Amino acid sequence: MKRIMITGALGQIGSDLTVRLRRQYGTDSVLATDIRQKQTEAAIAGPFRLLDVSDGAALLDAAKEFRADTILHLAALLSVTAELKPLLAWQLNMGGLLNALEAAKELSCQLFTPSSIGAFGPGTPKTGTPQDTIQRPLTMYGVNKVSGELLCDYYFHKYGLDTRGLRFPGLVSHSAPPGGGTTDYAVDMYVEAVRSGRYTSYINKGTFLDMMYMPDAIEAIITLMEDDASKLKHRNAFNVTAMSVDPETIAASIRKRLPDFELSYHVDPVRQSIADGWPDAIDASSAREEWGFQPVFDLERMTDDMLSHLQERLHSGQVNIS
Ligand code: SER
Repeated sequence: MKRIMITGALGQIGSDLTVRLRRQYGTDSVLATDIRQKQTEAAIAGPFRLLDVSDGAALLDAAKEFRADTILHLAALLSVTAELKPLLAWQLNMGGLLNALEAAKELSCQLFTPSSIGAFGPGTPKTGTPQDTIQRPLTMYGVNKVSGELLCDYYFHKYGLDTRGLRFPGLVSHSAPPGGGTTDYAVDMYVEAVRSGRYTSYINKGTFLDMMYMPDAIEAIITLMEDDASKLKHRNAFNVTAMSVDPETIAASIRKRLPDFELSYHVDPVRQSIADGWPDAIDASSAREEWGFQPVFDLERMTDDMLSHLQERLHSGQVNIS
């Protein structure tokens, strides 16, 4: 990676990733693009361009003008929004990916795009979910993710395009708020613990899902993209995870630091049924073996880091910390 274009750069992953990549590769070597501009560090501290990924010609132009050798394609609707707007999700998630793949093919770029635990379904083994297993998701987001994995495989086999990807679990971050995901309850819980001392979860107790702290997700992207591709067997959809937790597990970890924290439940049937179709705990051994995936944040380290960052922001007067 030398000249990197990021789509969806102001979203949950992109906001942190853009800043981290500029530190390593140089500010002017990383072009952040997004459908809207926000006054965030990713948008104002380096090259930024407005880009709607549904516009294939505009995506190609942006990558060509920037002389990108790498496209990190992050622009997508998450699981809940996709379920509420399935047609838009198909058009944006699949159309955007196709446009990014075509631009990468035309310009011989490396391409990264995230898959998700959402690519699994109710028929998938729930625990120790293998790298290669049954993938019959019932959500539009899941259908998009499986299709995306296959499409990236296709461009690799057919055109020799250097496509790579990770199946992310729920990602937890203190800097950029998530939007429209099922696993977002975890982020909301930390924010509310600091802000009000209580949280009402839309996901039920006993619902275990994989999670990972954002710094580990970002290091995983960089490590995979910089790896020697000749060793990779599963290029486009490596299972990665750092922990398997339910709302009670996270609450117990928060209470070790904030003993009065209260957790209650008001389960949302849409988000609960999405979560029920996903695995409890996936197996990330292929990522460890093929390119050395090694997350450093377990639940306790993540809780420490989340709470201290959020408390700092609250005390510095940023009351609205989400
Ligand atoms: N975090 C995503 C979501 O909940 C899963 O990939 O939609």
